[in-house]
Amino acid sequence: MSATVITITSGKGGVGKTTTTAAFGAALALRGKRVCVVDFDVGLRNLDLVLGIEKRVVYDFLHVANGQAKLGQALIRDKRIDNLYVLATSQTHEKDALTFEGVNRVMAELKEEFDYILCDSPAGIEHGAIMALYHADHAIVVCNPEVSSIRDADRILGFIASKSKRAEEGREPVQEHLLVTRFDPERVKQGEMLPLHDIQEILSAELLGVVPESKAVLKSSNAGVPASLDENTDAGRAYRDAVSRFLGEVRNPIRLPSAPALEMAEAEPRGFLRRLFRFA
Ligand SMILES: Nc1ncnc2c1ncn2[C@@H]1O[C@H](COP(=O)(O)OP(=O)(O)OP(=O)(O)O)[C@@H](O)[C@H]1O
Ligand SMILES: [Mg+2]
Repeated sequence: MSATVITITSGKGGVGKTTTTAAFGAALALRGKRVCVVDFDVGLRNLDLVLGIEKRVVYDFLHVANGQAKLGQALIRDKRIDNLYVLATSQTHEKDALTFEGVNRVMAELKEEFDYILCDSPAGIEHGAIMALYHADHAIVVCNPEVSSIRDADRILGFIASKSKRAEEGREPVQEHLLVTRFDPERVKQGEMLPLHDIQEILSAELLGVVPESKAVLKSSNAGVPASLDENTDAGRAYRDAVSRFLGEVRNPIRLPSAPALEMAEAEPRGFLRRLFRFA
């Protein structure tokens, strides 16, 4: 077995990467894939919280990368979803604690065990983000419909194209996908957020999904439950749809959180944004 590596990244922080890693990973595992989600955000360590396994962490990614524990000692199996495993990270303040060789070794070992490895990256291009992107076969760039988020996502897309192992080895480039999260049609209508048209026009990556702003996401995060487990929420369905799209099962246009509101918003003149980006 040689796993496909999906790195969840963003330019700006706090856009929903960790939420997405947990939700997307859980939804993939529900589809029968063997999935491991790995926390590359050394120092912050919250993937374990979002998955509700924080009390079970004894050894973590750093211990394995530094040879202080075996992979089997650090991998935590989710109790709700078969096939879903978590490799948590450390709360050390040394953000550069992961070594290139250590990560290579762990990734090689994980690749033998799983179908998919999801890497939850820190934002931007700090050390942990570079580590998380290096092994990517696919990158899911998470952004919110805000100018600053889109602009930073654009920068990260350029970075992915040049810094991956695939680029280094002259292989097919990392496949880039875009996931818009915290989408609020009301705020788009009021001009406070960007319509999807604009986002897609600025960022050329394929749109995998649109996750609405939803109280259910916060609630499930606090309860340690991946947002995709509940099929009865908009966000849960959006994450499951994104997985179907990723697996190539769905090719029709993205189902929008609130179509009428969005159509209105998208009908508005879009010159403002383009000007903004052109002169940025
Ligand atoms: N669709 C959503 N609706 C409402 N809140 C959301 C949604 N997605 C994420 N959030 C909330 O946004 C906050 C940031 O999410 P998250 O921690 O996943 O972001 P991140 O990109 O991983 O942040 P960081 O860059 O700090 O690692 C959390 O409080 C989370 O619950
Ligand atoms: Mg995070």
